[in-house]
Amino acid sequence: MEKKSSNSNLHRAAKVKNDEFYTRRTDIENELKHYKDQFRGKIVYCNCDDPFESDFFKYFAANFNALGLKKLITTSYVKSPIVGKQLPLFEMRGLKPDGKEPIKIEVSEVKDLNSDGAIGLEDVQRLLKDDANVTTSLKESGDFRSKECVELLKRADIVVTNPPFSLFREYIAQLMKNRKKFLIIGNDNAISYKEFFEFIKKNKIWAGYGKVKEFRQPDGTIKKFGNVGWYTNLDTTKRHDKLTLYKKYDRKEYVKYDNYNAIEVSKVSDIPMNYEGVMGVPVTFLDKYNPSQFEILGITDRDPNNKYRAKMYTKKDSPKYNDLNRRAAIKVNNELKPTYARLLIKLKQ
Ligand SMILES: C[S@@+](CC[C@H](N)C(=O)[O-])C[C@H]1O[C@@H](n2cnc3c(N)ncnc32)[C@H](O)[C@@H]1O
Repeated sequence: MEKKSSNSNLHRAAKVKNDEFYTRRTDIENELKHYKDQFRGKIVYCNCDDPFESDFFKYFAANFNALGLKKLITTSYVKSPIVGKQLPLFEMRGLKPDGKEPIKIEVSEVKDLNSDGAIGLEDVQRLLKDDANVTTSLKESGDFRSKECVELLKRADIVVTNPPFSLFREYIAQLMKNRKKFLIIGNDNAISYKEFFEFIKKNKIWAGYGKVKEFRQPDGTIKKFGNVGWYTNLDTTKRHDKLTLYKKYDRKEYVKYDNYNAIEVSKVSDIPMNYEGVMGVPVTFLDKYNPSQFEILGITDRDPNNKYRAKMYTKKDSPKYNDLNRRAAIKVNNELKPTYARLLIKLKQ
């Protein structure tokens, strides 16, 4: 019994810890520069962003006029380990002295308050310091699912943030339910979440431009990732670029899966230009996906009902039948081997 509760505490701690990765300004700038035109006249909402800490807030506040934003709304979450802990980056008139409550910042105009001829963070700092209407306490916790935050979400045109990894499914579901435009950071593995994959398959969500390899942690250290990037439903030019295909299909080179009606293509660059059937490709394909060139049909990940599946294994086939059933399998020297999760795709004619 004790073991179980300490395990669940550990699990909870791991979850909380995994939510505390802060996005660096350079990564925000590198991605946002591609979408500038789509932000003009828009209300932007960062709903998982403590303005003391979030570079999303700083980026949008400092570029408020350059992007031509109508409004910037930011809300912080009461449970964030950094709320009230850090020295405030900005002094805020609307805040109570202990500064621990979740807050909302709503910016509608940024003027050149320091008269240096340009708009920058210093002007935002002055605005927050002098205008008590910009920063207000939230009545609820600042949870993106709270009534108060959902009301703000409804008013917004585009949501931009790095949401908590542990709540990614719920986060996406809420955005889609409210038909919001968004640009958010997420793990590559999210593609195997059933509901999320359906949105990808139906071309309602796609990959942004870049990957995000490093995040700041509350203790000031850097955490590196190899599998985190941007997801969006804002238009990108890259999803209209055709992937150049070099290879021709050769049945000796491309093996057929033993349990799926598809061929294995282990590298995106090896996708044959003339294969009309279903192909299994690494999930990194998403970065090259142009929906007028390809169709995404499915994913070979824990889906017993996948319509391209040819068989389910039992222990008679292999002692590792469970592993084999999770994924597409190929025969290597007469032995069945599971592949990594593959996207099942087809060339559009
Ligand atoms: C991955 S961090 C990213 C923070 C910030 N968006 C950034 O990119 O620098 C996710 C943030 O969401 C906050 N958070 C966790 N659960 C939340 C919830 N239910 N509603 C709103 N924010 C939440 C965490 O405290 C954390 O600050």
